[in-house]
Amino acid sequence: MSQIPQAFLSDKPEQGPSPRRARTFEELFQGFPVILAPMEDVSDAVFRRLTRRYGADLCVTEFVNAEGLLRGCRNAKRKLTLDADDKPTAIQIYGADPTRLAEAARVAESAQPAFIDINCGCWVPKIAGRGAGAGWLRDPKAMVDMAKLIGSSVSLPVTVKTRIGYGPESEMPIVDLARRLEDVGVRALTIHCRTANMGHSGAADWTWAAKAKAVVSIPVIVNGDIKTAEDAVRARDTTGCDGAMIGRAAIDHPWVFGEARTLLDTGVPVPPPTPAQRFAMCREHLLANVEERGEPHGVRVTRRHLTGYLRGLPGAASIRKRLLFCDSLSGCLEILAEESERLAA
Ligand SMILES: Cc1cc2nc3c(=O)[nH]c(=O)nc-3n(C[C@H](O)[C@H](O)[C@H](O)COP(=O)(O)O)c2cc1C
Repeated sequence: MSQIPQAFLSDKPEQGPSPRRARTFEELFQGFPVILAPMEDVSDAVFRRLTRRYGADLCVTEFVNAEGLLRGCRNAKRKLTLDADDKPTAIQIYGADPTRLAEAARVAESAQPAFIDINCGCWVPKIAGRGAGAGWLRDPKAMVDMAKLIGSSVSLPVTVKTRIGYGPESEMPIVDLARRLEDVGVRALTIHCRTANMGHSGAADWTWAAKAKAVVSIPVIVNGDIKTAEDAVRARDTTGCDGAMIGRAAIDHPWVFGEARTLLDTGVPVPPPTPAQRFAMCREHLLANVEERGEPHGVRVTRRHLTGYLRGLPGAASIRKRLLFCDSLSGCLEILAEESERLAA
């Protein structure tokens, strides 16, 4: 960190709302938590820390390949590592073989996450086509048996994240599936309210989460197209679910967690981030990623977030362009300092 000018280090972003500290699994789902979705190459340790600081109540790791984990693959191990302050965080695993998944769940358990989540929702052909992720939706009985096996293999609570069906069923299997997963001991369910065939296109239909919630007593988390604090309130009020999970909107706007938390709890909207807060978010994320990964990798992985962080600022497109061609931390910090001074002038 010695190459970072002191001026930047002392320019701390404002503190967001504190994450709540649940002591039991049940407490995690009290008060309608707003949850950072598992997102590959996004929901890493750095982004979890950042979103938690800005109000995420609970985080889920990017999915971890069960086979990679069992082979001791470096990437899987990295994804499994939870810092002492990375709480509450669940570890998500995926795979197609129930026995291997159960073994991987035991390995994941040793990292002491809040719970273990099984990915039954990834639609990407190389994963779902091999029976993992949303591939489980093609055989609901196999999914239920697999979840039961994993639940009996670990002492931590086991949860499932899935979609409403594979597509194009007219009556989605999710309602019956929710009941059956609850029956075999699954402790909570996250429903991405699209079919696997839809990928990320088309509108998420939250009514399926409401229907599933109506038949189970375990927590049900609604996911898909929750982009703003107002969406989170609408998701709570129209589905009766126990929490909201936010994915893509957080990539551009991590403030969404604090905004949602405040609106859910008080009904009062939070003003949008100021230009200074937007620049501070860029700096904070760059510094944390470079500390974690070094240069230039730490700079490069932060880029996908910068468009959103800078959104609405005068000249945002040209700031982004300047940052796009800069691989060094000090260079990026200089650009941010120059541009924020320009806007303040
Ligand atoms: C870049 C990216 C990576 C994702 N990786 C995962 C993953 O590892 N595990 C998972 O269950 N879902 C994954 N998802 C799906 C999200 O968790 C979420 O279900 C989906 O984006 C819908 O929520 P949203 O509309 O809030 O984005 C990913 C989504 C994106 C955009």
